[in-house]
Amino acid sequence: MKKAMKNRMAILAATFLAASVLANATTPALIPQPQKLELGAGEFHLSPDTKILANLASLGTARQLAARLRPSTGYPLKVHVKFVSDTAADNAILLTTRNASTNLGPEGYELTVATNSVVIRAPTQAGLFYGTQTLRQLLPPEIFSSNRVADVDWRVPCARIEDWPRFKWRGLMLDVSRHFYTKAEVEKILDLMALCKLNRFHWHLTDNQGWRISIKKYPRLTQIGAWRKESSLARPPAAGKSNVHPAWAGPAADKFGPDGRYGGFYTRKDIRDVVAYAAARHIMVVPEIEMPGHSVAALAAYPQFSCSGGPYNTNVRAGVGDGIYDPANPGTFKFLEGVLTEVFRLFPGQYVHIGGDEVRKEYWVQSPDCQALMKREGFTNADQLQSYFVKRIGKFVNAHGRTLIGWSEIIKGGLAPNAVVMDWIGGGREAASEGHDAVMTPTGYCYLNYYQSPDHSTQPFAAGKYTSLRKVYSFEPIPEGLPPQDDPHILGAQANLWTEWIASLPHAEYMLFPRLCALAEVVWSPKDSRDWTDFQRRLVVDERRLDELDVNYYHD
Ligand code: ACM
Repeated sequence: MKKAMKNRMAILAATFLAASVLANATTPALIPQPQKLELGAGEFHLSPDTKILANLASLGTARQLAARLRPSTGYPLKVHVKFVSDTAADNAILLTTRNASTNLGPEGYELTVATNSVVIRAPTQAGLFYGTQTLRQLLPPEIFSSNRVADVDWRVPCARIEDWPRFKWRGLMLDVSRHFYTKAEVEKILDLMALCKLNRFHWHLTDNQGWRISIKKYPRLTQIGAWRKESSLARPPAAGKSNVHPAWAGPAADKFGPDGRYGGFYTRKDIRDVVAYAAARHIMVVPEIEMPGHSVAALAAYPQFSCSGGPYNTNVRAGVGDGIYDPANPGTFKFLEGVLTEVFRLFPGQYVHIGGDEVRKEYWVQSPDCQALMKREGFTNADQLQSYFVKRIGKFVNAHGRTLIGWSEIIKGGLAPNAVVMDWIGGGREAASEGHDAVMTPTGYCYLNYYQSPDHSTQPFAAGKYTSLRKVYSFEPIPEGLPPQDDPHILGAQANLWTEWIASLPHAEYMLFPRLCALAEVVWSPKDSRDWTDFQRRLVVDERRLDELDVNYYHD
């Protein structure tokens, strides 16, 4: 390090108050809480002539920041490349990868706010991006308005932050099968995820009630599988009952086709747009193509790949009428490989989720062809047949350079090599202790479709269980009893939003917020920094941000 710079940093450091600031009313309301935060004296004031500077590699992230700050401030902040020097400049926000400590990791950053400058330094663009998200939260909540807000002093408290995530996998799953969410609605959710520093969008694209991804080779999947007679799974508030709630809304008119059927699907262009939108926010999209169960929609279109031959129809209620693929028919694998080949082309990320949950294996037990296959393979139970199915698909997924993820049940009968377990009802600890990676999403903490108030009469109809904000905040992703050397196999955790009873975006937002904020802190912040009282203090400010962002949320 150059001597002048060393001196400058020493002076800067001296202007900051001692470390480990105890949270108080003036501590910035950051969610998730950063790893290290030192408050300084004074403020930086954003003005129309503040410049945004970046080294060449960081120009894109700098332009993104300028675009985010523009609507509410009205300031057309200029972005300039800073080719040589990487030190702070007067009345400027500098974004740079130069001289960033690699100790910050692939998503970490340092943010220094002084009275005349802001510097965000990170080894990667993901880290810089998270630094800009923190900077937005340091500004007054009105910064999140999409319209110009006059008479706000756009001040940022002087502070020094060093930050990186606790977990690599910080996710949200959205079920778009039970109810369909448009591309624009998905993009709003991606923006909110990015604000929470979440980085995995698990897109539950297929299930019994709807197939939502266009596949060129099998057009009937969306011609037949994307539609049902009515939105039978949305439950309207009963007339005269007290659970009439403003969050509840039936599906919007744009969710019905010209023939009056409910549904929708994403074109290949829609998918590419969403993947790019997510990538610009450092979010990997993880597509889920359900198999071998939960496949009524696919089998309504192609019943020849089922055990019974059908017919199937997508107008099924949750949990009934489960369709299951026939593993004794070689055509089934050819079909699924054809689907997955197109999925690999559309989704560049490492992970492909193949479901694997709640397989109604009685259909296999009743099928003479499946029984013959089991006999040939020497299987004594149907779990082994599921394992055979998943291993066969896993081999195909691996041959294309991808990693297979499946729900808890894929562990039964023997886990496929390299497979990742998504633990909703167990299996994560076992998988991790056998050297597999796992993502934790236990129902009691991570299913945000559950009630968030014990008084159901005040809430829109939901799945019967109760998961409070405080309970989500108390979640510990590392399973109890896991030997510490296996901790790195726990990639992280995610929230899941199953949408059987959730037919509109405002309702989805109501279920997600503020519980997703709690989950974000669980997966990002250090375990020992969790403080329920302080989280509630910060949430008061975060709710003002959500108001500006036009997000519908539950307020206790
Ligand atoms: C699940 O909730 N069936 C994964």
